[in-house]
Amino acid sequence: MLDLVGRSCLITGGSKGIGLAIATRFAQAGAVCTLVARDEQPLRNAVSNLAKCEHQNHRFLVGDVGDRELWERAVKLNPGIDILVNSAGQSQSSLLLRTPVEEIDNLVRVNLLGTIYGTRFYFKEMARLRKGCIINISSILASTGGGGSSVYAASKSGLHGFVKSMAKEASRFNVRINNILPGYIETNMTAAVHSSAKAEALMQTPLGRFGTAAEVADAAYYLATSDFVTGTDLIIDGGYASR
Ligand SMILES: NC(=O)c1ccc[n+]([C@@H]2O[C@H](COP(=O)([O-])OP(=O)(O)OC[C@H]3O[C@@H](n4cnc5c(N)ncnc54)[C@H](OP(=O)(O)O)[C@@H]3O)[C@@H](O)[C@H]2O)c1
Repeated sequence: MLDLVGRSCLITGGSKGIGLAIATRFAQAGAVCTLVARDEQPLRNAVSNLAKCEHQNHRFLVGDVGDRELWERAVKLNPGIDILVNSAGQSQSSLLLRTPVEEIDNLVRVNLLGTIYGTRFYFKEMARLRKGCIINISSILASTGGGGSSVYAASKSGLHGFVKSMAKEASRFNVRINNILPGYIETNMTAAVHSSAKAEALMQTPLGRFGTAAEVADAAYYLATSDFVTGTDLIIDGGYASR
């Protein structure tokens, strides 16, 4: 179904993993996509592989979401977008006492501030146009916590209060904002996880398997096309948080 024809979206982390799966799903539904990440070549590859109908001129933008200057450039290049997806993120696998303070700063800067900056810069135009949808990729660890992921979980938990608050501020402008909380999803991010940690995560997932990026993209598509849903945390975790 081409439900997103005529809509433009900007997807951070769109060169790989969950962000790329969302871009693929949205482009198939007719949206024009701008993908954002730090490395140019994967962005080029991603854009060239997206479905293209007439008027679908997908683009990319190189930059770091934790850097306000990127968002200034993004808004200049692409002032009015219909859907913002904040998927760029970085993980942690170290106990707090073994995590360098620079890494702590970076996790909060990218995962939390990056999403807040993106929303701050694009909400203004969405509010003016009285339409818009913002989707943040949080994590189930925001709800359950996880040893070795304290700063990551804190940065993602911050999105819970942010979305609850912004839903109140944005609804009167017909702008919706939601989080997706994925459980363990097979991407580059999880490829590096130690096999014993993977086995434990699998045991704790009642459906007995890890999720796919395409399954998270289905959830993003649902949020993009569901006009009565705002301020929510949508869990896609194979039951991980229910145990
Ligand atoms: N995979 C999981 O199991 C899982 C579970 C829960 C939540 N999540 C969340 O889902 C999101 C996507 O994760 P993923 O698994 O798809 O990871 P991934 O495969 O490692 O992809 C991460 C993407 O984000 C980009 N990125 C990273 N840091 C960036 C920065 N500072 N500025 C701009 N772009 C940046 C990467 O490109 P460059 O490196 O080129 O910048 C890449 O496109 C993250 O927010 C993650 O926390 C993932």
